[in-house]
Amino acid sequence: QWTTASIVEEQIGRIREQIGEDGRAICGLSGGVDSAVAAALVQRAIGDRLTCVFVDHGLLRRGERAQVERDFVAATGVNLVTVDARERFLDALAGVTDPEQKRKIIGREFIRVFEQAERDLKAEGDYRFLVQGTLYPDVVESGGGTGAANIKSHHNVGGLPEDLQFELVEPLRLLFKDEVRRVGLELGLPETIVHRQPFPGPGLGIRIIGEVTADRLETLRAADAIAREELTAAGLDRDIWQCPVVLLADVRSVGVQGDGRTYGHPVVLRPVSSEDAMTADWTRLPYDVLERISTRITNEVPEVNRVVLDVTSKPPGTIEWE
Ligand code: XMP
Repeated sequence: QWTTASIVEEQIGRIREQIGEDGRAICGLSGGVDSAVAAALVQRAIGDRLTCVFVDHGLLRRGERAQVERDFVAATGVNLVTVDARERFLDALAGVTDPEQKRKIIGREFIRVFEQAERDLKAEGDYRFLVQGTLYPDVVESGGGTGAANIKSHHNVGGLPEDLQFELVEPLRLLFKDEVRRVGLELGLPETIVHRQPFPGPGLGIRIIGEVTADRLETLRAADAIAREELTAAGLDRDIWQCPVVLLADVRSVGVQGDGRTYGHPVVLRPVSSEDAMTADWTRLPYDVLERISTRITNEVPEVNRVVLDVTSKPPGTIEWE
């Protein structure tokens, strides 16, 4: 029987063995629990030979960059470099609407940015290892497990370029989400990080159905921030697994506001309950909470004039729309 402490101890041993006495590693922080726990594990194993790189790809939710720079660094004292790559990602995604294309582009750009960061860090030593918070379900759904079909190429598994110049360190590869959270607590990470709801690596890029643009990102960020605020205020954060907000950027519908006609976009609320993201059910949110979210979004986000609720379980729907 494996205890969380024994998982931690075993992983630290494996990491030390893989990286060696004086190897150096880079870890990309996404803002999510997976990369945070992976980084904290590796930091336990190799200390300040780990440098974390946080890429602001412009596909983040409101306040996320500050949260990583403040909370995670405060909890771990880890070396952190933030790279502002917002323009680069927007340029690479211009004109792209296909979900798999988006995922592959975002995954590729992520690695390129890390490689650039590695070159920048070369002055300090040779960073040969790249830490990733890949979980067991990511491995299975990207076709890395036995007999699994390729459903989506998760950006941290399927989208790696062929010329990758790092050796991967993936200490969470055999774990499910609940185990990762227990490991995080065991490592002393704060609840705000450990119980953060999952957020996909490709970020808001796969929650805009249609082309990703700076304006559309602003719209989605505003709607998403409202939904999250209201869910938190209602005390529902621990009851739902996550609640993607999806912008149907190529869909418009007619509405009326004040004295005027509107012709805006719908957003979809996708609240789901799940144990491990492999399957999920749609969460029966209280009507009054749904109403507050809908009223606020349509009042406060001018581009959005309709809020709809996704009542599809997984399967047949996936959690994200792309
Ligand atoms: P799906 O949409 O496949 O999502 O039902 C399952 C869970 O995985 C998250 N997700 C991702 N996480 N990189 C990630 O790190 C990705 O490319 C990615 N795509 C989806 C999703 O938010 C959900 O929790």
